[in-house]
Amino acid sequence: MAGSDQKLTAKLVLPDSKEVSLPVTVGTEDEHAIDIRSLRQETGYITLDTGYMNTGSTTSAITYLDGEQGILRYRGYPIEELAEKSNFVETAYLLINGELPTTAQREVFGRMLTRHSLIHEDMHQFFAGYPPTSHPMAVLSAMVTSLSAYYPDCLDRSAPMDLHITRLLSKVRTIAAFSYKKSIGQPLIYPKNSLNYCANFLHMMFAVPSEDYEVSPILEKALNQLLILHADHEQNCSTSTVRMVGSSGANVYAAIASGILALWGPLHGGANQAVIEMLEEIKDSGGDYKKFIDDVKNKRGNRRLMGFGHRVYKNYDPRAKILKKMCDEVLATLGVKDPLLEFAKGMEEIALRDDYFISKKLYPNVDFYSGIIYRAMGIPTNMFTVMFALGRLPGWIAHWKEMVDDKDTKIGRPRQIYVGQKIRSYVPIDQR
Ligand code: CMC
Repeated sequence: MAGSDQKLTAKLVLPDSKEVSLPVTVGTEDEHAIDIRSLRQETGYITLDTGYMNTGSTTSAITYLDGEQGILRYRGYPIEELAEKSNFVETAYLLINGELPTTAQREVFGRMLTRHSLIHEDMHQFFAGYPPTSHPMAVLSAMVTSLSAYYPDCLDRSAPMDLHITRLLSKVRTIAAFSYKKSIGQPLIYPKNSLNYCANFLHMMFAVPSEDYEVSPILEKALNQLLILHADHEQNCSTSTVRMVGSSGANVYAAIASGILALWGPLHGGANQAVIEMLEEIKDSGGDYKKFIDDVKNKRGNRRLMGFGHRVYKNYDPRAKILKKMCDEVLATLGVKDPLLEFAKGMEEIALRDDYFISKKLYPNVDFYSGIIYRAMGIPTNMFTVMFALGRLPGWIAHWKEMVDDKDTKIGRPRQIYVGQKIRSYVPIDQR
């Protein structure tokens, strides 16, 4: 891919004094990488980087993230501008296609998303098969995998993928809302084609057949912004999983389902649920959040301040900045007073002045305030990570597409340093 500057090289001196020259790749924002692809072949060495703390797995033209400066841009556009001026469908188009759509392109895209919102009627029966206590992420991931059974042409990688992409964007929204309806025992509400993407989701979530439901413009706007803020975050755990699974040639539904599962963990997208559970626990035990922070700092009970810290951001997460402001606005407009917001703000204030958090560069991340907004919107806690998945979907798709189109793509296959037993002979069971 673009970005390679063959003039720059780095020199590596090995323990036997052998010197190797390695090419340096420079990105458009002047990020530098040492290209080690030929290292093992030339020297027998590999690099060891647990958790990929310092490994670039690809070049990418989708999202730029500067964790030291707190910068996030999709296709060059600052996240702050997109959150203020764009909407989720337009941002999804931008991420997947590389450019903002023209009016005509946006209309066609919107129409396609509306047309493909239904899921096969047979799939409705799947929802009935899950126990009512099922986590909606389990249902969502299984349903997305199941879509590949209904659209088997996705197995042919040489066929056009646009329709599958549209289906995913549209149907994941329907599946997410259906999984919620199932969990509370209400009838599934079909999508309504007269509504925009986010309004349609709220309709499927909150309407019931016995009553009229009007989508609140405040909720629709808040949802658009929340989904935009989650739409991509370059090579995070779930996106890297999508690329890894996709690199084996697995179909797009399988790759996206694997991203959903990676997102579920509490250190990743599951953190928004974990933040609210943490705040509720503090409330239920009397509201002493200072003690909670003290426990975190002294590593009592192996606690972390959920919603704080990030592998890449060593500064305030720009998404958290927008969400904090949005949180105040949405709660004020809806007239919601949530004690959890007061705890969250109090904890943030302490943490930002505390040496433990300052020295480790731990700041609020995207999950710290988003849960409080979702709560105010009436979305239950176990749906928060589903909301994250809905937002992250265009990012996963954009990365999957970039990976498939990249002629340099190879199946993802890291190496290891073996530290187990040396060769030994098999011992029969009666001699062990
Ligand atoms: N609270 C308290 N201490 C923390 C926290 C936290 N939230 N995060 C990191 N630390 C400490 C950690 O204990 C370690 O300390 P020490 O050096 O004394 O052992 C040090 O900071 C470095 O932590 P790490 O786990 O090595 O850092 P990482 O880059 O591997 O982890 C992280 C990043 C996001 C997993 C971590 O900060 C964390 O667990 N945060 C809480 C969970 C969370 O909010 N996750 C959502 C991330 S944003 C959404 C997304 O994109 O997924």
